[in-house]
Amino acid sequence: MATKLIDLSFTLNGRKVKVQIAPDTMLFSLLREQGCASVRCACETTNCGLCTVWLDGYPVLSCSVPAARVEGHTITTLEGLKAESEALARAMAAEGAEQCGFCAPGLIMNVLALARAAKEDPSLVATREELSRQLAGNLCRCSGYESQLRAIVRFLNESGVQVGFEMPELPVNDTSCDGVSYKQITHKQPKKDSKALLEGRPVYTGDMVPAGALIVKLKRSPYARAKIRSIDTSRALKVPGVVGVYTYEDVPKRRFTIAGQSYPQPSPYDRLILENLVRYQNEEVAIVAAETEEAADKALKLIKVDYEVLEPLLDFTKALDNDIVVHPEGDVTFMFPQGGDVPRNLVCSGASDFGDLDEAFAQSDIVFERTYTSQATQTAPMETFRAFATTDAFGRISVTTSTQVPFHVRRMVAQSLDIPQSQVQVIKPRIGGGFGSKQTGCCEIFVAFVTQQTGRPSYCCYTREETITAGNSRHQMQMTVKLGAMNDGTITAIDLHTLSNAGAYGEHATTTIGLSGHKSLPIYNHVKASRFSWDAVYTNTNRGGAYRGYGATQGQFAVESAVNELADMLHMDPADLRLKNIVREGEIMPQYYNEKLNACALDRCLLRAMDMIGWRDKPLAVDLGDRVRALGCALTMQGSGISNVDIAGIDMRLEEDGFITIGTGATDNGMGVDTILAQIAAEELGVESSLIVVRGVDTDLSPFDAGSYASSGTYVTGLAAKNAATELREKICAKAAQMWDVDAADVVFDGQYVRLSDERAAREQNRYLTLREFANLCVKNIAGGDALTSHASACLPVSPPPFMAGIAEVEVDKATGKVTVVDYAAAVDCGTVINEALARVQAEGGIAQGIGHALYEIVEHDDRGRLRTGNFMSYKLPTRLDIGSIRVAFEPSYEPTGPFGAKSIGEVVINTPLAAVASAVAHATGHQVRSLPITPEKALLGE
Ligand code: FES
Ligand code: FES
Repeated sequence: MATKLIDLSFTLNGRKVKVQIAPDTMLFSLLREQGCASVRCACETTNCGLCTVWLDGYPVLSCSVPAARVEGHTITTLEGLKAESEALARAMAAEGAEQCGFCAPGLIMNVLALARAAKEDPSLVATREELSRQLAGNLCRCSGYESQLRAIVRFLNESGVQVGFEMPELPVNDTSCDGVSYKQITHKQPKKDSKALLEGRPVYTGDMVPAGALIVKLKRSPYARAKIRSIDTSRALKVPGVVGVYTYEDVPKRRFTIAGQSYPQPSPYDRLILENLVRYQNEEVAIVAAETEEAADKALKLIKVDYEVLEPLLDFTKALDNDIVVHPEGDVTFMFPQGGDVPRNLVCSGASDFGDLDEAFAQSDIVFERTYTSQATQTAPMETFRAFATTDAFGRISVTTSTQVPFHVRRMVAQSLDIPQSQVQVIKPRIGGGFGSKQTGCCEIFVAFVTQQTGRPSYCCYTREETITAGNSRHQMQMTVKLGAMNDGTITAIDLHTLSNAGAYGEHATTTIGLSGHKSLPIYNHVKASRFSWDAVYTNTNRGGAYRGYGATQGQFAVESAVNELADMLHMDPADLRLKNIVREGEIMPQYYNEKLNACALDRCLLRAMDMIGWRDKPLAVDLGDRVRALGCALTMQGSGISNVDIAGIDMRLEEDGFITIGTGATDNGMGVDTILAQIAAEELGVESSLIVVRGVDTDLSPFDAGSYASSGTYVTGLAAKNAATELREKICAKAAQMWDVDAADVVFDGQYVRLSDERAAREQNRYLTLREFANLCVKNIAGGDALTSHASACLPVSPPPFMAGIAEVEVDKATGKVTVVDYAAAVDCGTVINEALARVQAEGGIAQGIGHALYEIVEHDDRGRLRTGNFMSYKLPTRLDIGSIRVAFEPSYEPTGPFGAKSIGEVVINTPLAAVASAVAHATGHQVRSLPITPEKALLGE
């Protein structure tokens, strides 16, 4: 029976709206239908705040308000507050606080409501606690909240609202150490997309879905391991509006990987689009394509799957040689050897060492061994996975998706459909956060398949629950560290073994586990010997994958914790012990691919962080009566791109009217790489970066780029941008020389004028053109003219490590064990800092994610392999109440292979809180927690 529609009339952003709606329509859906792109959803559980709008001037969560309730009322969204939101948007852009921008509209709606309330009652004073409490429902995964708070305080001050606190002074930084005074880099500049993001414009994948696109939904397995005996789709196919239902019998039988990595791919080819064996709970078993959501939902319920339920393999420490084989199919392949043995559940294994380890341990005064476990955690970008597919005039499949790796998605779509890559185009709009999860493919293969089958556009948008349960998480790892040292604190030997839980598929398993050792051991480069060995295993848990830090996070938790434990055993200051042992500039690093360390300010970072927190003036623990306040520290390093693998290209063109377009395949996930590339290119050309336009990624048009991962944006793509700019400048001079019939060496482009280098002669001979005049002559076919273009690519033989020191100051409640991070001081060496505001927000966001990992977040299964933490009610993301003050300083070094001396910053920033917080808790309670997260029980009672 057709649903009876009800009439609804209300006022939306000042205009009268009259519509007919189904009785169960929620306000959120209605507003999206009305074109309010600023209203977004990141949860289905009223936890995220992204859907905040005003109902008669008061903030409400539109996802929890039945649309019928707004009859006769007034609804305001960010689209209706353009003028009022401008000052706040400006303050946020100045801080770089908008990052991916996906959460910004919901936050702005709440802050503007607060400001209005405060203006009505001038006695209201905004305290830090009160502001954090009032805005705690507005989640942000990118920013770490600190930059947002700085912007909000500035806005409230400007608005005349009483603010009862001051934000901590930002550390004064040198952003470069080469003595050069730069014009475009080393300064704060707002992100190029900040206006669009802060106005809530329709710039994300979900805002661009073509009208009439089929809705794609997935039937998922309730079991962690099961054989599908049969699937009956007949009733589902009869639902009006259902266009197709597809099972394992309908898809190509060629295995592939959805790990977005360069070719040859290190991840095993171990999956099909659909299969008759289920390997984790919530794995896809059927695809539904329908004309409406309702029809798709109804069809999902009518698909009947007959399962033979099998016992799952859940404990990764028992996976190797277990009787249960996760991949018994016998046709999993690897593109190159990596020690995998699929019948043994082994994805990869190996070892690397140097020196005589037995001898080094034998000569040590102290030798001890500890085992540490880092849990699986969720990347949790606010924009869930989503993609749509269309066909073009040539019958090719075009996929628009929120991805970090468009070119790799092109390959995986082609592989999964068993068609040539030439038949696939991938387009990337703005991305609402990634943090590594969007380095792995997800729903792209389903929409591509449906569009291929039906010839119709199709759209798939994962719910939060699907994103958590069927997306990828950080690999759970167990690390055993054996450490040898002398009584004076000299570390002599380290033996690290890492066991990683790949989950049901091997995406990124080989490469993440490698980083657990290769980016933790080189920090203690002076040891006489070290060994790093590893095994990654399959289990029937949801799949592991890329997450910022990429294995280094886990490995450094183990090694840094062992170093902290050594210091405590020796009654040595843990910072002094580190200063005695850490790697220094100029050294060769045997456990880091034998690379030479050209640029390193790790010692300065540690000293700076100590200074910021007042390390020398405080005891490691102090009893405050009901709680203990304590300190802990940790160091970290990462890489800058993947040496000899990551490739980036930049196309540059001098356009009519004298502006410059940059084509890049790098994907801006919110960290601002588009702006960074513009700053680098502008610096090299000598122009204002406002003259540079950066084009988004389209694999048909953009130069090849491996994508945004492995901290490659600034270092690898940035170098390509610098080189392309050099080439363009040379071409400008050469073209002018040709026009004027002079030697190219006698022409300069100074950023404003193309002219003879002899300025007087230039004026006298009228050889003096503005860039605009010159560019316009170029496209007028003067001197065989054409728009000048340049292209450069970069692939570097090294991956220079950025470094960081982090110090946590925590309070542990003596009665409850609750751990609160009250202050976090960090100093970062990312080489030359291209844009201080964006670098700072990256660092603050990474630290907040690290604190979440240390204290709150965990992906948990029950004893049947069912996920217990499938939404934001059960998976605890830190709110702004859970993160104390975060302060970040920069200690630049100069990396000669990087653009203007820059290294990377994207990943290194997440790594220190795990070990630093654990050590601070140990100093407070005497319990060293070796298995994360540090729950109040573990803090209070030990493990
Ligand atoms: S979508 Fe409404 S609170 Fe998350
Ligand atoms: S900026 Fe808040 S979620 Fe990305």
